[in-house]
Amino acid sequence: MTRADLPCILGMEQSEFLTPWSEESFRHAIETPNGLNLICQRGDEVIGFLTGLVVLDEAWITNLLIAREHRRCGFSRRLLACFMDRARVRGALHVFLEVRQKNEAAHQLYNKLDFQKIGVRRQYYSDTREDAWVMRKTL
Ligand SMILES: CC(C)(COP(=O)(O)OP(=O)(O)OC[C@H]1O[C@@H](n2cnc3c(N)ncnc32)[C@H](O)[C@@H]1OP(=O)(O)O)[C@@H](O)C(=O)NCCC(=O)NCCS
Repeated sequence: MTRADLPCILGMEQSEFLTPWSEESFRHAIETPNGLNLICQRGDEVIGFLTGLVVLDEAWITNLLIAREHRRCGFSRRLLACFMDRARVRGALHVFLEVRQKNEAAHQLYNKLDFQKIGVRRQYYSDTREDAWVMRKTL
């Protein structure tokens, strides 16, 4: 992911999420030395992205989105596999993420990839007051 991808990424982000990340948040993700940020491209078109971090032996996935018309084609699975491979190379032993309690598609995805629910942050999301599930996978 580079700055050049941001207009497309911001469009997808804003059309999907109730509380989208700002351009500044993405710029910060790109510029932070621990960042591990990937895009998924079909031809020249950016159809998805994943942002994450690797800090010591922990990797964190902070955002993941696939454009609606390209869902259920295995792109998330591939982005996540690529992220985990690269995180492992950087020394990560575990990968963590937070997911909304009611995000059934994401739960199915993470369950399929053997993430385990390890905790709950009560009313973590201020827009809907939903809980966040904290999930972990050992690499
Ligand atoms: C969740 C999301 C990232 C999944 O992306 P995707 O590219 O469609 O997922 P994949 O095609 O790689 O799916 C892999 C597996 O996950 C599960 N899965 C994914 N989406 C699913 C859905 N809507 N319903 C049920 N299972 C689903 C399935 O087991 C699927 O395997 P299968 O298609 O062989 O049955 C996508 O729906 C999305 O961008 N949602 C909006 C943003 C979001 O919720 N991000 C996650 C924040 S934590």
